[in-house]
Amino acid sequence: MEVSLLSHVMGSISSAAIGAVARLGIADALADRPKTGAEIAEAIEADQVSLESLMQAVAALGIFTVDEDRRYANTAASEQLKSDHPQSIRHLASLICGLYGQAAAGGLAKAVKDGTAVMPAAFGVSLYEYLENDAETSRIFDLAMQDWSRPIGVVLAEHVPFEDVRVVVDVGGGNGALLKTILAAHPHLHGVCVDRPDTCRRAEADLRASDDEDLKQRLTYRPADILKEIPEGGDLYLIKNVLHDWSSESSVRILSNIRTAMAAGDNPTLLVIDPLAEHDSGAAFRNVIKMVVGETHARERTEADIRREAADAGLHVESITPCPADLSVATCKLAEAPATV
Ligand SMILES: C[S@@+](CC[C@H](N)C(=O)[O-])C[C@H]1O[C@@H](n2cnc3c(N)ncnc32)[C@H](O)[C@@H]1O
Repeated sequence: MEVSLLSHVMGSISSAAIGAVARLGIADALADRPKTGAEIAEAIEADQVSLESLMQAVAALGIFTVDEDRRYANTAASEQLKSDHPQSIRHLASLICGLYGQAAAGGLAKAVKDGTAVMPAAFGVSLYEYLENDAETSRIFDLAMQDWSRPIGVVLAEHVPFEDVRVVVDVGGGNGALLKTILAAHPHLHGVCVDRPDTCRRAEADLRASDDEDLKQRLTYRPADILKEIPEGGDLYLIKNVLHDWSSESSVRILSNIRTAMAAGDNPTLLVIDPLAEHDSGAAFRNVIKMVVGETHARERTEADIRREAADAGLHVESITPCPADLSVATCKLAEAPATV
C-alpha cells in the first residue's frame, strides 16, 4: 500500500509519541494487567488527561489495544518496549524518537545546507559534548546501545573462536553490554571496555553495585580517548558501531591507535563490526542517522572503504562476514602478520 506524504509528515508526531511511551515506562506499567488511563497515570505519576491523549494516539497506531472499558493492554509491539524483554528496544526508542528526532528536526536542513553535522547545527555541541551535560540522556544513550548490541552479542559469543583468547578489548564499548554477553558464554575470558570517562564511570558504578561477583573479577573499564590511544594487552580487539560515526580521517586514526596496541601483543585479531552498505537493509537512512550523531561527513562504509582505511592504518582485512542486525564483521590482522585464513 502506498503511504501518503501526509502520513510521513505526521510520522514525526507518531515517533515522538512512541518515544514518550518508552521513556515513561508505560509498557512496564501494563506488565501485570490491562489498566485504564487513570490507573496508568497513577502508576507512572503522570497527568491523567495528557496521558489519555497519548494512549489514544499510540493505541491508534496498534502499539496497545483498548477494550470497551477503556483499559489499555500490551501487544507484541509494546512488549518490546518493556525493560525486561529479551529483545527490548525501550531505550533505543527513547533515544531515537527523543534526542535524535529533536536534533534532526532542529538541525537537518541547516546541516545539509552548510555541510556540517546535525547535532552542532541543532544544539551547538557534538553528541558527546551534549551527553556530558545531560546525565539522564547519557544513561538512556548507554542503555540504547545495549539494546542495539544484544542480538550481535549472542552471535559473536557463539561463532567467534575464543579458545585461544584470554583478554578481549572492546574499543568504544559503551557500558560493556557486548562484553558482558561474551564473558557470560566464555568463563575463561577477561574483558576490557574502553570508552569515554563519564561512560566508564557510570558503567563501573553499576557493576560495583551489582551482585555479579564473577563479572567484577573479569570485566574492567578503561577510560580513554580512542582518537589518542588504545590500551595494549588484548588478544582480541572489537570495535562495534563506532567507526561509521567518524570521518574517514578519524576512522583511520582510531584504527591506527588499535594497530599500535595490537603491535605490542602476540599477533592479536581485530573485529570491526559495522553496518556495511552492501549488506545493510537500512542503508538508505543510515547516512542521515550518521549526520545526526556523527562527525561532519561521517558515512556508512562499503567493503572497499573498510579495506582501504584498514590498509592506511597498517592493518589487513582477512575476511568480511555479513551478520544479523544489518551488521558485518571485518576480521583484521596487522598488515605484516602472517595470514590465518
Ligand atoms: C555508537 S556508540 C557504540 C557503543 C558500543 N560499541 C555498541 O555498539 O553498543 C559509540 C561509543 O563510542 C564512545 N566514544 C565516542 N567517542 C569516544 C572517544 N573519543 N573516546 C572513547 N570512546 C568514545 C561513546 O561513548 C559510545 O559508547
